[in-house]
Amino acid sequence: MAANSLTVTDNRTGKVYELPIEQGAIRAMDLRQIKVSEDDFGLLSYDPAFMNTASCRSAITYIDGDRGILRYRGYSIEQLAERATYLETAYLLLYGELPTSAQLDDWVYQITHHTWIHENMKKVMEGFHYDAHPMGMIVSMVGALSTFYPEAKNGIDGETRKLQIIRLIAKMPTLAAFAYRHNLGMPYAYPDNHLSYTGNFLNMLFKATEVKYEPHPTLERALEVLFILHADHEQNCSTNAVRSVGSSRVDPYSAVAAGVAALYGPLHGGANEAVLRMLGSIGSRDKIPQFIKQVKEGKAKLMGFGHRVYKNYDPRAKIIKRMADETYEVTRPSPLLPVAQELERIALEDEYFVTRKLYPNVDFYSGMIYESLGFPVEMFPVLFAIPRTAGWLAQWQEMIEDPEQKIARPRQVYTGPAQRDYVPLGMRG
Ligand code: CMC
Repeated sequence: MAANSLTVTDNRTGKVYELPIEQGAIRAMDLRQIKVSEDDFGLLSYDPAFMNTASCRSAITYIDGDRGILRYRGYSIEQLAERATYLETAYLLLYGELPTSAQLDDWVYQITHHTWIHENMKKVMEGFHYDAHPMGMIVSMVGALSTFYPEAKNGIDGETRKLQIIRLIAKMPTLAAFAYRHNLGMPYAYPDNHLSYTGNFLNMLFKATEVKYEPHPTLERALEVLFILHADHEQNCSTNAVRSVGSSRVDPYSAVAAGVAALYGPLHGGANEAVLRMLGSIGSRDKIPQFIKQVKEGKAKLMGFGHRVYKNYDPRAKIIKRMADETYEVTRPSPLLPVAQELERIALEDEYFVTRKLYPNVDFYSGMIYESLGFPVEMFPVLFAIPRTAGWLAQWQEMIEDPEQKIARPRQVYTGPAQRDYVPLGMRG
């Protein structure tokens, strides 16, 4: 019997099976041989919400949730946040290594020169109400991009694939900024190729009558760090959506649109928006005990707390908390900051949160910074979607290249009625 194996005894039949263990996992398909009779379909593993199922092998992002560790391609998130740029990080995620100086120059050049969107995309944008949620607009706009690049339908190989990746990373800030200005009723500001990725994004958002927009270096860097922190997070809800939808071999714009839609939800990327709304509804520090009581009674959720994987302080939240002070030196801190700090202090001492290992996640403090940078709450999930595009595409590319992957198609445990005969309308009830 191999040492790296699992012995299973089926008590229904008394048969014994030996299942190989590879990298800490058994193959679910190995369970299929376990049957009670020849015509039995075979044993399934039942795992709602993928609580304990690896859907892929991945060499992109590593998380140790118990120790609060996050690494992209082996590099710690702390070092990348301290020393890298977002585009360097995006390259790392996509191609596995940090770029050389020549590779980085070419990469930045390519991204910078694909930021424009077709003028007809503006007409799509104009179809939305003035108060349309920007995430709703981005879902549609990213999906609409696929119609402008029909070659992307066959574009899952070589240079065509690379071009779609460049386009998506380059155009996301443009779409986001245009959605923001659509909400405000302001004319769109076009990309400025002399600015960095985040500097140009700030330009497209906030440029008014000045001839040239000059981003504040502290704010430009703050956004850069936030983008690095949000660039990937292995197999979360939106990444799973991108992989799953992309596995049908649809074009990457449609797959990423699915990712944006998944991210929109309040349990995922919409949590940063929900945190600010929650803090606003609590209003002041003296109302916190009452709110905590409601959470413990199951009547409310402490948004920005808890994580499926982290059972320790989210390392991204730690970096954001530290960076917030630098940002507040040049901006007005959020008036809700004292409420957030007190809420965190109380929650981290409270038995309910301690026993459930509920710590602040990335969304607890990111909203505070976004608010102080001048963003309305509706834009918060958009600020998550822009950098996550690199991670989605890296994961999509890895899935395309993985010979073990096929179209995603989960199984189910059927619990409905057995076969029955159609009942004519007059005989029902
Ligand atoms: N407030 C109050 N109770 C909570 C919270 C919370 N934020 N999160 C989890 N719990 C409780 C939950 O009720 C459960 O209690 P019990 O054992 O008594 O039933 C226990 O903690 C375990 O939680 P769970 O729901 O089984 O955990 P999960 O892995 O299914 O959910 C989560 C993870 C992130 C969806 C959840 O913690 C949550 O809803 N948090 C608030 C939303 C949020 O901040 N989301 C952002 C996640 S980080 C960024 C991202 O990846 O998008």
